[in-house]
Amino acid sequence: MKGIVLPQYNKNIIRALLSLRPEEKPLRKPLADEVVIKMHAAPCNPSDIAFMQGGYNIVKTLPSIMGFEGSGVVTDAGKEAKHLIDKPVSCFVQEDSDGTWAEYLITKKENVIVLNEKMNMDQAACFTVNPFTAYGMMDIARVNESKAIVLDAAGGQVPEMMRAMAKSEGVESINIVRKQETAALLKNEGVKHVLVETEDNFDDKLKTLCHQLQATTAFDAVGGILAGKIFNAMPLDSELIIYGGLSNKPVSELNTMNLIFNQKFIYGFSLPDWKEELENFAEISEYLQSKFIDGTLHTKIQGITSLDNVVKGLRNYIANMSAGKILIKPS
Ligand SMILES: NC(=O)c1ccc[n+]([C@@H]2O[C@H](COP(=O)([O-])OP(=O)(O)OC[C@H]3O[C@@H](n4cnc5c(N)ncnc54)[C@H](OP(=O)(O)O)[C@@H]3O)[C@@H](O)[C@H]2O)c1
Repeated sequence: MKGIVLPQYNKNIIRALLSLRPEEKPLRKPLADEVVIKMHAAPCNPSDIAFMQGGYNIVKTLPSIMGFEGSGVVTDAGKEAKHLIDKPVSCFVQEDSDGTWAEYLITKKENVIVLNEKMNMDQAACFTVNPFTAYGMMDIARVNESKAIVLDAAGGQVPEMMRAMAKSEGVESINIVRKQETAALLKNEGVKHVLVETEDNFDDKLKTLCHQLQATTAFDAVGGILAGKIFNAMPLDSELIIYGGLSNKPVSELNTMNLIFNQKFIYGFSLPDWKEELENFAEISEYLQSKFIDGTLHTKIQGITSLDNVVKGLRNYIANMSAGKILIKPS
């Protein structure tokens, strides 16, 4: 079976991309608690980019097949997982083993979500990470009873899902992007509050909006100075949750007096940690699938690439991430 192999980590993303190569590997038999999945599709996420650069919290023994999530159908299974044969599934795999950018994936039965038969399999390829992240983080805004939330990297798919969830709960969103064209795209889609991080008086505009709308919870995927600016702009009793580090820069320029006297908090969100604390994962999974089936939630997909053309496909994604995910399909 064929898969896309990363031979070694490389901080230079272009060199890392160019080092990817399709490779044939033998398909072994599954262990008792494992399933074999014939892959339908797998996305490239920012975590895959960080992983290739050796900058992610998951470090594998290389060479290894890329990919943390995807969708497919179970074609074989060990004796503890026979009931999963023929089921359509989404899968999430972060162990030190081969990943999802391949014709087949062998993984533990715990790493799969059995899908409602009405789930679209392209959407299912991007189901195990972003929708649960958006749901888990919206829970924080719910607990905080925030009337509005702040989202940066707002052309991305996590913010898009959070906007959809916020809208259905009557919560406003303040959306920050880095490019004018992404701002135009969002405004065209009817998004009300959009700021470009480089525009004149950005700090003042953000502060005014945060205070007007009472945005007391912010979700930052960028880090660097932008995270500090958001923190400083929010009203008393606010929380800044860091869930991504797209700028590759440390969070900076936090207003010290705000930390001391304005009861503001800053902390991180990690999907695996959040999941570990859950008792109703299956219920949430069913709820989220129903939202995909009725069209409330959706992952934007900008293109599809084969295993052999993966480098070209990924270069398109990196050049314009707000246009949506690239799906890698083995056939
Ligand atoms: N903590 C967790 O458990 C968890 C779970 C899921 C996702 N995440 C993180 O969430 C973030 C968003 O993921 P996603 O799937 O929504 O991404 P995505 O759909 O692939 O889109 C990425 C977005 O980030 C923007 N962006 C990229 N680099 C940027 C920078 N340096 N400054 C400002 N904006 C930048 C892109 O804008 P352009 O169009 O301008 O490139 C694009 O809108 C990632 O960091 C991911 O790792 C974390």
